[in-house]
Amino acid sequence: MRLFNIILKDIRDKVKYYIKTFGCQMNVYDSQRIAHILQNMGHTAADAPADADIIIFNTCHIREKAAEKLFSDLGRINLIKEERQAAGKETIIGVVGCVVQAEDEQIAKRAPFVNFATGPLTYYRIPEILGKIAQQKNICLIDTEFTSESKFDHLPQNRAEGGCSYLAIQEGCNNFCTYCIVPYTRGVETSRPVEEVLKEARRLVETGTLEINLLGQNVNAYHGEDAAGRERDLAHLLRRLAEIDGLQRLRYTTSYPADVNDDLIACHRDLKKLMPYLHLPLQSGSDRILKAMNRRHNRGQYLEIIAKLRDANPELGFSSDFIVGFPGETDQDFEATLDMVEQVGYIQAFSFKYSRRAGTPAAVYPDQIDEKVKSERLNILQEKLFSQQLNFNKGCIGRIMPVLFESKGRKKGQLFGRTPYMQNLHARVPAELINRILPVRVTDATANSLGGTVIQQSD
Ligand code: SAH
Ligand code: SF4
Ligand code: F3S
Repeated sequence: MRLFNIILKDIRDKVKYYIKTFGCQMNVYDSQRIAHILQNMGHTAADAPADADIIIFNTCHIREKAAEKLFSDLGRINLIKEERQAAGKETIIGVVGCVVQAEDEQIAKRAPFVNFATGPLTYYRIPEILGKIAQQKNICLIDTEFTSESKFDHLPQNRAEGGCSYLAIQEGCNNFCTYCIVPYTRGVETSRPVEEVLKEARRLVETGTLEINLLGQNVNAYHGEDAAGRERDLAHLLRRLAEIDGLQRLRYTTSYPADVNDDLIACHRDLKKLMPYLHLPLQSGSDRILKAMNRRHNRGQYLEIIAKLRDANPELGFSSDFIVGFPGETDQDFEATLDMVEQVGYIQAFSFKYSRRAGTPAAVYPDQIDEKVKSERLNILQEKLFSQQLNFNKGCIGRIMPVLFESKGRKKGQLFGRTPYMQNLHARVPAELINRILPVRVTDATANSLGGTVIQQSD
């Protein structure tokens, strides 16, 4: 009971928390906001779970493996809980995120030692939940109700954790791609009002942010209200954000190809702050499969959007997500994907074997593809994507690029930063230059990272 008493007694600085994050950037953003909630309660971050009084897992449900791994990870955390208990220390284990929304009953059944579980839209209630736990030991509180309230109305003010910040502007998805669990875990699509986003962005810049990455499951479907109650799109928001003094870089992710409009394309021509890198998931290069996936774009439309974007800004580099082995995918369909990769030329990409998600339409489609075939196709695709990425990176050798240094690098004396194209770059830079954008001459390249030297401004 010690921890619970500590909470009640208000000796709050003794309580430490540890948050482990799985999944996409939206979860990273949510974890930062949960940290802010806990910090506002007076709690501080622990370096390791064994030192933490509150351990929170922020979970992802996108593929089966990710969800299954959660239960083995939770098992390990329970061992830590037991060890701490033997040493007279209580531990609260919380699970948040997308798995909770889909598998709340499983969590209660398979991991009864979990003290609370709350979905991605309701974690703002954590202080209330911790209050209830303080009064009643060994309960498992599950809170997965979709609410009409916006979590953003209840969260503390955001603040920068470094030079790059995520800012969620849109959440949920109405697209219902037939393979995807997200519409069921994050709910229907909602957009935050324009002024609210601007306020959060200004605050991030005031506290040290140089780069903002706008987030949404379908970010370019953004349709937030402005001060006059008028619906505004992502292009409008980007233009307003670009006016913020001190903000140097803007990005947005993830975009849905069919929702790229002409104004958004024009932003890539007009806005210097908008980085020349766009993640535009294609998923498959076969029109037949795209249809079965319920994607609202085909090959021709996708290529047309890419051409228009390149016309607006010839420097643009593209990345994509791909799924191989969707039910019914033939060799010919897969060849069509390889052909699209060839035609577009990606500078980065993420590719996955199709994973059956219970409750989604494709999970019960006939013609599920053999795991071996999926693996073979994934290897072939990844080899092709790898060589495109390597070629692009090698082509950067000799170029001078502005790099935002974010953190310490792997080796001593090195910092880690990102180029405008989101490439990882390591360079020997003094640690006090973290959170600065410096010109770097690229000297070497692998498929996954670049090396370089900071040049004097007068070079
Ligand atoms: N909203 C984004 C991506 C969300 S999920 C979009 O529409 O592109 C991130 C990626 O996971 C997807 O782009 C897709 O490639 C992959 N993914 C989603 N569901 C999957 C599944 N059931 N099996 C394999 N990959 C999946
Ligand atoms: Fe999932 Fe499709 Fe929505 Fe992306 S657009 S989150 S893949 S349903
Ligand atoms: Fe995973 Fe949820 Fe993101 S399922 S990919 S954490 S929206």
